[in-house]
Amino acid sequence: MELTPEIKEKLDKLQEKYAAMGQDMSAYLDGLLYADFLTYWDYIHLDTLLSLQSPKTPFPDEEIFIMYHQITELYFKLSLHECEQIANHKELTAKFFTDRVKRINAYFNALVSSFEVMVNGMEREQFLKFRMSLLPASGFQSGQYRMIEICATDFIRLVDKSKREELKTASLEEQFDHIYWKFGATELASGKQTLTLKQFIHKYADQFLKLVKERQHSNFSTLYLKLEAEGQDVSQLASELRKLDLHVNVEWPLSHYKSAVRYLERDPIDIAATGGTNWQKYLPPRFQKRIFYPFLWTEQQMEEWGKGWVMDVLNKTNFT
Ligand code: HEM
Repeated sequence: MELTPEIKEKLDKLQEKYAAMGQDMSAYLDGLLYADFLTYWDYIHLDTLLSLQSPKTPFPDEEIFIMYHQITELYFKLSLHECEQIANHKELTAKFFTDRVKRINAYFNALVSSFEVMVNGMEREQFLKFRMSLLPASGFQSGQYRMIEICATDFIRLVDKSKREELKTASLEEQFDHIYWKFGATELASGKQTLTLKQFIHKYADQFLKLVKERQHSNFSTLYLKLEAEGQDVSQLASELRKLDLHVNVEWPLSHYKSAVRYLERDPIDIAATGGTNWQKYLPPRFQKRIFYPFLWTEQQMEEWGKGWVMDVLNKTNFT
């Protein structure tokens, strides 16, 4: 083979690269010689990925249930990947922030529209049987979902609304004691935490609190207000953040709620959920009124959170 000037130049550059690290280029060339060619299946760990479905029962539809949860968790991971890049950016601009929030919106858009896989994709009879083998596990225990919330807003916004005013200046630890979802999984009559909640807190509390502290000055709310104060043009960013607020706090919860209704609603008494919440009262966004960016909405929009106006806003903002 002819050693062309281009190849020679590349070899020189490689030599420089390895020499800078005190490494011997020729040993690395040997490595190249013996290395296998990369394959698609190895690169994305396909065999591992496809081996991660282990149903607890023989009902075929349980596999759909497992896989759709896994797909959702991967989208959550993609969203958190963008949250990281925004929070850790050394010189954040409104443009970068907007582009990354757009990505998160695309992920949630896919999640909202694909929830049909749950709503009509399993036989109700099978679901009602296999779910009993899953007690007390519940999607309520999705740690990534809670981490997205922590990255998206000021932590006080995640405090139960009955305590928010009182705890405005309290420590983050004290606010964490009153995070909204702890009330969602507490038995009203006895005031006791459900096992689902206890296990969730045991696994994630430290991790959540650490993230809350890390994001105290780099959550999306704080970063938006900072860029606005610096005089950057945040109009596009505001529009993307409004979409995010609706995706995470209205659209996804509504699609999810439709699943709960389809499988668990029964006259005259609803079927108990695996996580033990009073789900009819807990899940609908109009009751929870979780709102990340109150400064981007009108009083009336917040008053009617989770009601019909949502689609109007999404259509007007050219939502795709
Ligand atoms: C047939 C499908 C589903 C049904 C019937 C269902 C039902 C429920 C119910 C009843 C709750 C309230 C907590 C409890 O008592 O267990 C809940 C919470 C939750 N589920 Fe699901 N779920 C379904 C699918 C999913 C999927 C695919 C995910 C994706 C990860 C998911 C994630 C969540 C989350 C994050 C919560 C907490 C919501 C909040 O705190 O507002 N669920 N689910």
